[in-house]
Amino acid sequence: MKTPTELAAEQAAYWNGPGGKGWLASMERIEQGIGDFGKAALAAANAQPGEKVIDIGCGLGGTTRTLAEAVGLGGHVLGVDISEQLVASARAHRVPNATFVAGNAATHPFEAASYDLVFSRFGVMFFGDPVAAFKNFQQALKPTGRLVFVCWRTTQENPWGLVPVRAAAPFLPPLPRPGPEDPGQYAFGDRARVERILKEAGFSALSFEPLDQLVFMGKSIADILENAGRFGPLARAFADATPEQIEKAKAAIGETLKPHETAEGVRLPGACWLVTARARGG
Ligand SMILES: C[S@@+](CC[C@H](N)C(=O)[O-])C[C@H]1O[C@@H](n2cnc3c(N)ncnc32)[C@H](O)[C@@H]1O
Repeated sequence: MKTPTELAAEQAAYWNGPGGKGWLASMERIEQGIGDFGKAALAAANAQPGEKVIDIGCGLGGTTRTLAEAVGLGGHVLGVDISEQLVASARAHRVPNATFVAGNAATHPFEAASYDLVFSRFGVMFFGDPVAAFKNFQQALKPTGRLVFVCWRTTQENPWGLVPVRAAAPFLPPLPRPGPEDPGQYAFGDRARVERILKEAGFSALSFEPLDQLVFMGKSIADILENAGRFGPLARAFADATPEQIEKAKAAIGETLKPHETAEGVRLPGACWLVTARARGG
């Protein structure tokens, strides 16, 4: 079994390598896929003028900019992301009341008891030691502070992610099989596990709202196949596959998605948790 340090190092390498590169290259499509889940989380966060906010795993900083607008020039947003390349793009927008840090949010020395809100859109499922990470966020929050994030539920509840992988798998080298406690896209699917992590980290008044909606995967099957394997489990398998294997895998993905292709693109069901919690004294 890998140690939390090894798991964290693996994640850092992935997001500073193919993960960050793929995210950057596919941002427009990703935004169409996950934007509404993010909007629901931003609405629940309800950032107010003058507030101090941390955006965990901020990526290209889209949500950081929305939060910065909400808190205004009297407030401030700190975007933290482990991927140097994504932080460099986020910084390029030059938002006056937002600062970006390239580093591990799990261990970043946030100013203690200073923030009103810790927010994340799909950026909290990748920690080697999640309890330690959330303890770190807890200590950064004011006693009245709040935590709001959106994360994917289980793989089985997310056909948009599972269906292409299941179709391609027979033609590819073995895909990664993360254990139930390993970091990754679906690491927070099990509500009981997330509850345990947040309670151990000292959060209270936990709330889990299921969000279910169709996820846009691409404007056509050809479009999806062109981008297949840019990130996620398929990226790792494609990296070790021969061109023939990749061709067969893509053909299988195309076949399985055929019934879902419409004039408006290809969409399959997706499922998230919108999680909110209060800091220790909140
Ligand atoms: C699925 S992406 C979400 C990005 C962004 N929040 C968005 O919605 O566009 C996950 C992000 O978490 C970042 N990340 C992963 N592990 C991290 C860590 N330990 N500390 C900070 N960021 C991390 C990745 O680099 C990546 O940008």
